[in-house]
Amino acid sequence: MTARRSQVVGWGAYLPRRIITNDELSQTLETSDRWIVERTGIRQRHIAAEGECTSDLALAASRKALERAGIGAGALDLIVLATATPDNTFPSTATQVQAALGMTRGAAFDIQAVCTGFVYALAVADNFIRAGAAETVLVIGAETFSRILDWSDRSTCVLFGDGAGALVLRASEVGDEPRPRGILSTHLHSDGRYRDLLYVDGGPSSTKTVGALRMAGREVFRHAVGLLAGAVDEALAANALAPADIDWLVPHQANKRILDATARKLGLPTEKVVYTVDRHANTSAASIPLALAEAADDGRIRPGHLVLLEGMGGGFTWGSAVIRW
Ligand code: ACO
Repeated sequence: MTARRSQVVGWGAYLPRRIITNDELSQTLETSDRWIVERTGIRQRHIAAEGECTSDLALAASRKALERAGIGAGALDLIVLATATPDNTFPSTATQVQAALGMTRGAAFDIQAVCTGFVYALAVADNFIRAGAAETVLVIGAETFSRILDWSDRSTCVLFGDGAGALVLRASEVGDEPRPRGILSTHLHSDGRYRDLLYVDGGPSSTKTVGALRMAGREVFRHAVGLLAGAVDEALAANALAPADIDWLVPHQANKRILDATARKLGLPTEKVVYTVDRHANTSAASIPLALAEAADDGRIRPGHLVLLEGMGGGFTWGSAVIRW
């Protein structure tokens, strides 16, 4: 018996050139490198240049992913792009990337699940492939959160950064081999009752403004640890895996303390966790593909490795994916 699976055949990342350190922030805000590092593990963040949009970041990451996959954009059937910071209210940022890549067939659309966006996009792409509705899919997480921050609010603006990451998925038939490669599972969740703990206070329909991010940080932290532990347990159980089977945990990069707490609950040594939050800060939907691309590029994640992704964000939304790389 064979089954259709989505295999990762390419990956790419892009970070804007400009880096803002904690010390630089402390020149205009009542904060310090020490406070930010102790509470979050963040040391710096990349910030998009004036006029550099989410689609520009997404395009740069996508080109690298396509190159790594050894295919042109003409081979793509679908682009799924996760973002909470689109270039425009419409058209979708995905269609802007589609045009810039010169892809004139197939379909492209955005997904919005904030920091869980990439896990959502991956699940949608995987289901298109499993259903036989697509062969080759570009999955992107791209954000310019710097544009929706209140730069006078020290409790939020120090936490986020800009960036993009992308994966190319291709359908493959797997047989009875004991360790088939590809996406093994995805699990998605949301609970809209938690809206007020993390949201943007603007939007086209409510205020006709872009708005700024608002967050009850301590409350979000408390929920994040519990929800992520549950997501990880669910992913392991669905695949009959033990924590020790996981080669790499690649979490959404919100806060080093949240990452450490999830690894501790799993009983995973921190050496098996991919951390980028110190250099990238929280790039929302871009953080997981950025971390994946970094760890695959430097040879930590290798073919056959079992990789567990998890994320949680505004909504609340949360979820997981397990990939045999
Ligand atoms: N520099 C210095 N002091 C600060 C700063 C800052 N940048 N920000 C807040 N403070 C002060 C507060 O004003 C407060 O002062 P007070 O006691 O005089 O009132 C004090 O520090 C403590 O504030 P708390 O908010 O209680 O600090 P906490 O220890 O909870 O840390 C933090 C705040 C880092 C935001 C933490 O709650 C957190 O990481 N939460 C998770 C939020 C998150 O990651 N969200 C991302 C999106 S969701 C996701 O991706 C999972």
